[in-house]
Amino acid sequence: MKPEPSARRSRLPLSLRRGAVPWDRQRPTWRDARPGVIAEALKRAQARPSGNWYVVGASAALRGDRPLARTIAGREVVVWRGADGRLLAGPGVCPHLGAPLADSPVRCGTLVCHWHGLTLDGAPFGGWDPLPAFDDGVLVWVRLDEVGGEEPLDAPVVPVRPHPARGVTAVYEGTGVCEPEDVVANRLDPWHGAWFHPYSFVDLTVVGSPGEPDADDRFTVDVSFKVAGRLVVPVRAVFTAPEPRTVVMHITEGEGVGSVVETHATPLGPDERGRPRTAVTEAVVAASDRPGFGFVRRAAPLLRPAMRVAAARLWRDDLAYAERRWQLRSTGRFPG
Ligand code: FES
Ligand SMILES: [Fe+2]
Repeated sequence: MKPEPSARRSRLPLSLRRGAVPWDRQRPTWRDARPGVIAEALKRAQARPSGNWYVVGASAALRGDRPLARTIAGREVVVWRGADGRLLAGPGVCPHLGAPLADSPVRCGTLVCHWHGLTLDGAPFGGWDPLPAFDDGVLVWVRLDEVGGEEPLDAPVVPVRPHPARGVTAVYEGTGVCEPEDVVANRLDPWHGAWFHPYSFVDLTVVGSPGEPDADDRFTVDVSFKVAGRLVVPVRAVFTAPEPRTVVMHITEGEGVGSVVETHATPLGPDERGRPRTAVTEAVVAASDRPGFGFVRRAAPLLRPAMRVAAARLWRDDLAYAERRWQLRSTGRFPG
């Protein structure tokens, strides 16, 4: 059987782009990017169960003598490791006089309040009740049943990822003035890639979307990542929303098959002007079967900052999109 062009690519991971089309001469995608398709995909994502789990941060940030802390939907939470390595979590407000436990140190697995020395070992104490927490190896989650209001699940809906031994992980975090749905809607619009991020993507074609008859609930995209100059990496990427606040991009063909980029949106609560704030946690788990990838993995500590810089540039623009979407929605000016 003749291999698909994209299958052939996987053995030739880098390509030199010929006959590059200038940015303003590429095919407009707005006719394909039908607002209704994005809105319906968002609605289906929102209808999926999350089990009330929210991303707190990167697992790698859990080390050390400080708890991992975040305010989720206005609730301060702290997560740390007990002496036996078990994950412990609870409200970030000291039950004595309300000190911010985010600023309290962890000593031998016990959280020691820095105001008057009250110690928490993860067991209920004086009105402080522990919360369920989960470390999936890349991200730490906490379950907030009163915030989510869904049927609780024992564990979060964690996307399928490459085996940790085969992957290089980087986690990027940003914050925007918007709601989680604005972050998700941005990711469910794959058509903006080569127009809005020409520094990263070229030759983008959405080859499958849920708007088409009999299509699965996924967006399939052929796109080239720009490496340097005319050097590009052509891949096929599939976007899905496994739960209401997560969109996952799986590389299914081309260099780095199996790699994932997960975008998680966590509602933080209102800012001082009453506007909603949302944290974006983007986990990149890059995989490769290429022989050189062992070296790449050993070089991971060097690579991670670079991966974060790339994600930060994309996210600056994508957050602007999400914030703009919220602004328009909240003032009744969103088209359609
Ligand atoms: S406020 Fe924490 S011990 Fe007093
Ligand atoms: Fe984007």
